[in-house]
Amino acid sequence: MTTKKIFLKEDEIPRQWYNLAADLPSPLQPPLGPDGNPITPDMLAPVFPMNLIEQEVSPERWIDIPEEVLEILYRWRPSPLRRAVYLEQHLETPARIYYKDESLSPPGSHKPNTAVTQAWYNKQFGIERLTTETGAGQWGSALAFACKLLGLECKVYMVRISFDQKPFRKLMMQTWGANCVSSPSNETQAGRDILEKMPDTSGSLGIAISEAIEAAVSDETGKTRYSLGSVLNHVMLHQTIIGLEVKKQLELIGERTPDIVIGCAGGGSNFAGLAFPFVYDKINGAEIEIIPTEPEACPTMTRAHFAYDHGDTARMTPLLPMHSLGHTFVPPPIHAGGLRYHGMAPLVSQGIVEGLLKPRAYHQLKCYESSLLWAQTEGTITAPETSHAIACAIDEAIKAKEEGKEKVILFNYSGHGLMDLTGYESYLNGELTDYSLPDEELEKYQDALKDLPKPEIKKTGRW
Ligand SMILES: Cc1ncc(COP(=O)(O)O)c(C=O)c1O
Repeated sequence: MTTKKIFLKEDEIPRQWYNLAADLPSPLQPPLGPDGNPITPDMLAPVFPMNLIEQEVSPERWIDIPEEVLEILYRWRPSPLRRAVYLEQHLETPARIYYKDESLSPPGSHKPNTAVTQAWYNKQFGIERLTTETGAGQWGSALAFACKLLGLECKVYMVRISFDQKPFRKLMMQTWGANCVSSPSNETQAGRDILEKMPDTSGSLGIAISEAIEAAVSDETGKTRYSLGSVLNHVMLHQTIIGLEVKKQLELIGERTPDIVIGCAGGGSNFAGLAFPFVYDKINGAEIEIIPTEPEACPTMTRAHFAYDHGDTARMTPLLPMHSLGHTFVPPPIHAGGLRYHGMAPLVSQGIVEGLLKPRAYHQLKCYESSLLWAQTEGTITAPETSHAIACAIDEAIKAKEEGKEKVILFNYSGHGLMDLTGYESYLNGELTDYSLPDEELEKYQDALKDLPKPEIKKTGRW
């Protein structure tokens, strides 16, 4: 009988995170301050606790996971690695398709892996309240859950379009005791400024980040910090537990290193979590195709410049070296709310510049078509973000069939879609259309980058 689920015992959980920054062949360029000079860790101190800032800049390859963090992660980790045999049979592919099931955490995605970790480090540092933004609502509910477990207060600024599309996510956050408001809100200067200029805006992650940072740094007690669910190095780090578990699971069943590794990428964290331990293998000679996927409507990795840009619309964050559509980008209201961010993790961006990662963009309709095929073969209802990884896995499985090759395909099942059924409803009613960001629109947004410093394009040319 074919193995369909591969479990690790709790005591087999990885006890260290993997830091790709230690191994990138062309190193990351530093974040820059408003004067164009590299920022120092103390400049980040009003926003993040120092113990997380230390991780953010750490050059160490392996970083210990505190036992107390593992104790919290055991609630849902190690997560199962599954084989999509029913999809394989349907496609009549010789490929073996594996997927890491991150949908089984209490909030339903990979996001709590870093949410509980960040909440724990903040608590250690004496912080009492966290603020954040959320796009799809997955991150906001993950941080709400984490704060409740650690006894912290939580305030979430939720992008207006998702706030309206996904009322149940807001209720999940409230159930875990968080306060969730629609962004832009009237509660911050950044929100009020945007509302004055664009009262009908559908909002953006860039705007919601500005609000959440402002709310953190303006708390005079000094007991509030901001928490980001993706993009930053320490967030990528916390998610590597995903790929490190997969390596053990594949070894357990005698499976070889995958030929293809896939993850959808909004800010890059679930992709990085699965892929970075395999990027390490690729740097050391393994032949692996590693593919981050994104929507055609927000083509950050496939069409935007690698540039220095702010992580938020009000330009409160340092300048990060990343692929960016431009910090003023207001995305079209597609249903994959978590993939609408204007930027990308610097570690993922540098991996693309180096040629280690080969991004692809997918249209919304193809993604929903793939989700339906998935639901009708494997059975589960996937998050619209995850469907970008499934579409790519299906493409690769069909290609393997055409080439007659027994490939091993691995992707990250980053979350379930049970709170995203309005998107399915629109698709099933034939109300969704495909949308490619027009060149003129892209150029208009990229204009916001023109007066900012430019990063060097550093690559070894090995890939
Ligand atoms: C289910 C799911 N997958 C993927 C993402 C994209 O985020 P990231 O690129 O940080 O994994 C999100 C973001 O909200 C999400 O909810």
